[in-house]
Amino acid sequence: MYASFLSIGAYVPKKCLTNNDLEKMVDTSDEWIVQRTGIKNRHIADDDEVTSDLAYKASEVAISRAGIKKEEIDVIICATISPDYLCMPSTACIIADKLGIKNIPAFDISAACSGFVYGLNMAKAFIESKIYKNILVIGAEKLSAITDYTDRGTCILFGDGAGAAIIGSTDDKSKSILDIHISSDGKYGDLLITPAGGVKNPSSLETVENRLSFMKMKGNDVFKIAVRTLTKDVKDILAKNSLTGDDIDLFIPHQANYRIIESVRNKLKFDPNKTVLTVQKYGNTSAASIPMAMNDWYEKGKLKNGNLMLLDTFGGGFTWGSGLVYFNGK
Ligand code: COA
Repeated sequence: MYASFLSIGAYVPKKCLTNNDLEKMVDTSDEWIVQRTGIKNRHIADDDEVTSDLAYKASEVAISRAGIKKEEIDVIICATISPDYLCMPSTACIIADKLGIKNIPAFDISAACSGFVYGLNMAKAFIESKIYKNILVIGAEKLSAITDYTDRGTCILFGDGAGAAIIGSTDDKSKSILDIHISSDGKYGDLLITPAGGVKNPSSLETVENRLSFMKMKGNDVFKIAVRTLTKDVKDILAKNSLTGDDIDLFIPHQANYRIIESVRNKLKFDPNKTVLTVQKYGNTSAASIPMAMNDWYEKGKLKNGNLMLLDTFGGGFTWGSGLVYFNGK
């Protein structure tokens, strides 16, 4: 019994935040942002639209494309760093309620941008150990709620959105989630951090005044470690599975920065036509980034049943991961 990637869906909020909009908010320029990041646009959720709403809409699409009934879902895993509530209830429980599903396990995982790949690995393990049959894995973020729009070093990067997948089972290895590798190194935690709001620095007038509940980042340090880690992780997973870049149909890296993706792609000598790029229109949507990118290619007809996808992700923690996944959707 193998785990199998049965469907993908996504939801992109309607409202756009362009580089020209950001020029009016902070000291930056369209030229600078495009040159350093490749980002031209991001989508921003409405004030009354929260992470679980984005996730719910993406999930409806994934469930319908998988051709299963909601009652057939055995577990809901939601990866997010922008949950509806800080501690409880989990966003996954709220999504379950919005979908009209109950009496199954539903929980969030916090692995920043690597969350979706972490979730896929958990789903794979649940299915291969025959504990559950169908798992809804979601990456969903309303990062605009934790972005400091007075900080030009971060506010140009992030956007909102959600992606969701149904993971089921197959006895055909060529339709399976072949391999996933996930990892972390907590010593880099302070390079990408929301300093307040947790028990270490509970929210107070002072933390609000100092804008400490927003994401802070040492961008340059993150950049270098990201390129190194993403490249190594891909080399390792390909070697472990006796594959080369030529065996891959689609390289789907975390959409953080065009320059990071290009550096990794060049080092690995991947074909640009096989490299999925959505960072220019969605920005960095953290846990939602990979499933949103995948959905984009699927809706363009460029992701087909039997394609072998190579996933590569990196995020706060630091966390990272890679995956070799056959797409088994219709
Ligand atoms: N507009 C104009 N200038 C900006 C700017 C902006 N939005 N943001 C920073 N700058 C300035 C800096 O203040 C600095 O000015 P100085 O030289 O006068 O001090 C200069 O640009 C260079 O800053 P630096 O931080 O070295 O730029 P960079 O080339 O590293 O680009 C990032 C900054 C954030 C785009 C880049 O580091 C990055 O993408 N890092 C990775 C981020 C990431 O992917 N995070 C998520 C990981 S999952």
